[in-house]
Amino acid sequence: MNFVNSCPFVNLCREMQKETVLVIGACGQLGTELTEALRGIYGENHVVASDVKKSDNDVFQTGPFEVLDILDKPKLQEILEQYKPTQVYHLAALLSATAEKMPEFAWKLNMDGLFHLLDAARDMGIVKKVYWPSSIAAFGPNTTRINTPQYGAMDPTTVYGISKLAGELYAQYYFNRWGVDTRSLRYPGLIGYKSAPGGGTTDYAVAIYHDALTTGKHHCFLKPGTVLPMLYMPDALKATLDIMHAPAEKVKIRTSYNLAGMSFGPEEITAAIQKHIPSFSSTYEPDYRQAIADSWPAVIDDSRAREDWGWKPDYDLDRMTADMLDNLRRMGFRIDS
Ligand code: SER
Repeated sequence: MNFVNSCPFVNLCREMQKETVLVIGACGQLGTELTEALRGIYGENHVVASDVKKSDNDVFQTGPFEVLDILDKPKLQEILEQYKPTQVYHLAALLSATAEKMPEFAWKLNMDGLFHLLDAARDMGIVKKVYWPSSIAAFGPNTTRINTPQYGAMDPTTVYGISKLAGELYAQYYFNRWGVDTRSLRYPGLIGYKSAPGGGTTDYAVAIYHDALTTGKHHCFLKPGTVLPMLYMPDALKATLDIMHAPAEKVKIRTSYNLAGMSFGPEEITAAIQKHIPSFSSTYEPDYRQAIADSWPAVIDDSRAREDWGWKPDYDLDRMTADMLDNLRRMGFRIDS
């Protein structure tokens, strides 16, 4: 897919193509695909990938890669001095389920990491634009669960969600007070075939496709009826790239935008897979992640993203399912493989 030509802000996107971009947390589920997409737009040598450890995914074997622990502020500054990126995508974080196992470290990583970057953007005069993801985890049990509005009760119950809500407010604060051009999306669960997720409550919706093609059975850690908002990776990439290429005046929300693609429970994704693999089945055994899922919205109202910078997803559950299964099969996932 050619992101430049299909970008609603194609002219600005073309102008920005001369810039250098840094991706922090590049080896994660989103980072891997985003790095690949950014290299398609900006060229391999203009997209610096960084993470605590280099992954052996092909995308990192070409173009610059730096080992960076985002808690190491001097190293971040050194990388910024060396490559002079004008845009940074900061994706390094512990996700909801892992963060509950080590809450103190999760808070440190998620918050200090963000501060290191925001401070560098404010103080060094190199970085002009910062992308940092928030999440549906920023909502909580008193949030309206159906058509969750952009503004409403936000009372996250997980350390991950608390860090996202605090981070949203700080991103807005740095924008208002020091003019750091911060942009953010509240991602729902992200589903893709190219790279594995790690430590999220929504991750079952990726594993289920792998299971469908290998063992033919999925053992789900959530119970039927647990409806959560989800987004297919090509849509997540489109939204992320579009908000970063939008003219500043169109980005009217500087905390984080609600964003949605589809909503379903584990039994619905099972049924969608059964249309392709009738023998596939799921069993259910909820664990500690059920309480996390129960505190999150089921259906998100993303009308502000649609109005302000033209967001519209392309994939629903059936279209995503067909595409996931095709691609995983192409990659060699087979029953008994
Ligand atoms: N996918 C994330 C998680 O489950 C939500 O942001 O933690």
